[in-house]
Amino acid sequence: MSAVSFPVIGGNQPIRVVQVGAGGMGRNWIRVLTQSPDVELVGLVDLNVAAAETALEEAGLHGVIVGTNLTEVATASKAQAVVNVTIPAAHHPVNVEALFAGLPVLCEKPVAPTVAQGLALAAAAEVSGQLLMISQSRRYYRTLAAFRADLARLGEVGVVTTEFFKAPHFGGFREEMEHVLLVDMAIHQFDAVRYLLDRDPVSVYCEEFNPGWSWYSGDAAATAVFEFEGGTRYVYTGSWCADGLETSWNGSWRANAAGGSVRWDGEGDPVVERVAASDPSGTPGGSVTSDVDSGEAEEIAGALAEFVAALRTGVVPSGEVHSNVYSLAMVEAAVLSSSTGAKVRIADVLEAAYVDAVRTEARTDVRDALEQWGSPLG
Ligand SMILES: NC(=O)c1ccc[n+]([C@@H]2O[C@H](COP(=O)([O-])OP(=O)(O)OC[C@H]3O[C@@H](n4cnc5c(N)ncnc54)[C@H](O)[C@@H]3O)[C@@H](O)[C@H]2O)c1
Repeated sequence: MSAVSFPVIGGNQPIRVVQVGAGGMGRNWIRVLTQSPDVELVGLVDLNVAAAETALEEAGLHGVIVGTNLTEVATASKAQAVVNVTIPAAHHPVNVEALFAGLPVLCEKPVAPTVAQGLALAAAAEVSGQLLMISQSRRYYRTLAAFRADLARLGEVGVVTTEFFKAPHFGGFREEMEHVLLVDMAIHQFDAVRYLLDRDPVSVYCEEFNPGWSWYSGDAAATAVFEFEGGTRYVYTGSWCADGLETSWNGSWRANAAGGSVRWDGEGDPVVERVAASDPSGTPGGSVTSDVDSGEAEEIAGALAEFVAALRTGVVPSGEVHSNVYSLAMVEAAVLSSSTGAKVRIADVLEAAYVDAVRTEARTDVRDALEQWGSPLG
């Protein structure tokens, strides 16, 4: 893999954005894009034009170009960037079309349905020379940033745990899909722990099951034990049919490091307890509430702010596709472990995906780039 670089957008005019996808999450994105002074929503693409027009009407927006063809809408609206809020199965084709039209992309999670497609997208970003960033909205919380800073001030990290217990009745596709908790939800916590530790995973052992009273047809509960670089263990336990004593949507977190622990309920300020002798400030041990920076944008507005900053400065954002593929690999490895009953190495998942990506890539230039890596992500 060559070092990630992409063109900077100069000037001080708002960046002209075309959004693709005007469904449930697309409506949230329209609101965030129109509230931001850094961007201007100039086009909206959806296979369902009526859905796009209704979404714009509901938002009280006029003059946004609507259509079903991304390249046409982007050209007509003189777009400078794309926000992709389509269904996961459409992420790969929409991202490829945008990148090779010379447009940087901010794409909703997951990068793609499979790690193989994620690797192909990383190669497509390299060949096109454009930025592809994945929006993982649950990375952008001021209290999570404080948790991360607190943990960094302690010593070597031993164990991080997340308990995720919710009982939503979504109806629709989620109640029918396989591996629903791991694929649709746990990717948020898996991505957040990579952010928290600033390290990548090495292996996972996972068990999935469906409690007897579950209203999902796929497995709605799972426990996974990951090993991270440096030996830290991450233990995730969750259920999506967990009536009573529900956690927050971020889950309930604890991290134990040499010299102390940090707890975060996923919403409020984290709480730190240090043992006195290990506190570098020399202050006595005991529980303290973290200092939370109240200025940073959160959730998808946080992802948008990081994308804009990257396009203005050339600084590679944390959700850049080459890095983000590891969050999807955690999901794919956990699913593989639960179906085989064996511990799975993340490197093996990436290797199998790489072989698949080279075998199935339709574009010669992207396949050549993949082959030049010689191994997953080079
Ligand atoms: N960050 C979060 O917390 C969060 C929450 C919900 C959804 N999401 C993600 O947002 C994305 C969209 O989810 P949603 O719930 O809005 O789905 P949705 O099904 O409600 O909407 C998707 C829209 O995309 C359109 N579409 C599909 N294929 C297209 C294509 N090739 N070209 C143009 N339009 C196309 C559909 O017509 C539909 O209007 C998914 O990737 C999902 O995982 C993220």
